[in-house]
Amino acid sequence: MHEVRAQVAGVPVAFDPVERVRAEDAVGRRVRLRGWVHRSRSSGGLLFLTLRDRTGTVPVTIRKDAVGAERFQAAEHVQLEGAIAVSGVVAEDPRAPGGREVRADQVEIIHAGEPFPIFKDQTEEFLLDKRHLAIRSQEFVQMFRLKAALLGALREFLTEEDVLEVTPPIITGNAAEGGAEAFAVDYFGRPGYLAQTAQLYLEAMLFPHERVYAITPSFRAEKSRTTRHLTEYTHLEVELAWCDLDGLFDFTDRMFVTVLHRLAERCPGELRALGRDPADLLRLSAPFDRIRYKDAIEKLRGQGFPVQWGSDLATAEERALTLERASPVWVTHFPVEAKAFYMLRTPGDPTTVEAGDLLAPEGYGEIVGASCRETDIDRLTERIKAVGANPADYDWYLDLRRHGSVPHAGFGTGLERILRWVTRREHIRDTTPFPRTPARHTP
Ligand code: 4AD
Ligand code: MG
Repeated sequence: MHEVRAQVAGVPVAFDPVERVRAEDAVGRRVRLRGWVHRSRSSGGLLFLTLRDRTGTVPVTIRKDAVGAERFQAAEHVQLEGAIAVSGVVAEDPRAPGGREVRADQVEIIHAGEPFPIFKDQTEEFLLDKRHLAIRSQEFVQMFRLKAALLGALREFLTEEDVLEVTPPIITGNAAEGGAEAFAVDYFGRPGYLAQTAQLYLEAMLFPHERVYAITPSFRAEKSRTTRHLTEYTHLEVELAWCDLDGLFDFTDRMFVTVLHRLAERCPGELRALGRDPADLLRLSAPFDRIRYKDAIEKLRGQGFPVQWGSDLATAEERALTLERASPVWVTHFPVEAKAFYMLRTPGDPTTVEAGDLLAPEGYGEIVGASCRETDIDRLTERIKAVGANPADYDWYLDLRRHGSVPHAGFGTGLERILRWVTRREHIRDTTPFPRTPARHTP
């Protein structure tokens, strides 16, 4: 990688990443580090710092007699999250976290900074107001490294499976998942919406490419304040031609198992730091269990939930179905009226759709919505009317059923939902750097 050059104490140098200190041959070697002060404590001519860069944190000791009184005093006045550069020798120290420290003999103050406003025992609200600073914490560092690895592993799997990544629009004229939950935008005087799903566009692109996916922000104007809803989230959607429901479930299961195994192998440190034993993920295997909606509601009634045929599963019901499980489970064949207009009726059963929701274990609930798509233009038109929409608004989509309509199926999954389960977070907002919820859209 290209190293950015800068100066320490007036001397031009190339900097080492903090993780260099942990290398096998590091003890006794000189390193040059730069980064932010994560901790700082001064005691009798000795300054103990923890320095953080993108690769981690390392203890640094600065002796007054090594750097001189003036620089020592300047270093003492660097605030938490102030920026410094140091040069020194790596030494073994059993008292230091990680067993090593850097004994600095040169120090350069890059930005001493103002007192950092975040410290222990502050309210959730305050931390959300200061989110742009809170994301420097080790917890968030691990979380967003893990999220990047998840994105990478998903793209890698989908590329291996010959699924083409495409770029659907975010601004749209249709509210595909239900008008009331779409954010309206004024599009030069005409109504527009922020996309709730890329599905309809993926369906259009499936005809030339057969297997497509997109990773886009999706928007839901759901006012409900829950621990698993964001108003903006990262949506992976996959659309596959010539695919039936079992084929779709098999594909999805394989994707989750492959990707989560890779995550366990590549990010064991991040996972452990966030409270998940990587072995839990390595134990997952395909296929995941599949239960029908009618059996799921029977089971729920047995547990005292007054579920009526026809309604989608509520959060508490999904929780009850998955609390004791260690692996995800599909709930399949929902009643037609519980789900979106584009879903295919179950052959031989007009009351249900060829669809499934994948529920994460340990009570976390829905992480995937999947279905076969209606291919017949008349039944599709009838369903559009039944949900109170105007078929004329979907004319371009209906065109897809006029020219070589073929069986196809797809799914969508929210990356923050996956991470909430994998990292066992109570609130979904902790899986995204700048959460968007009904209560806030700043910072
Ligand atoms: O079940 P949903 O609404 O399905 C669709 O949007 C389909 N059009 C997807 C498709 O077949 N292409 O949303 C899919 C997934 C959910 O299972 C959940 O993981 C996530 O998107 N999701 C949310 N994540 C965070 N906050 C919200 N408000 C979410 N709503 C849905
Ligand atoms: Mg859903």
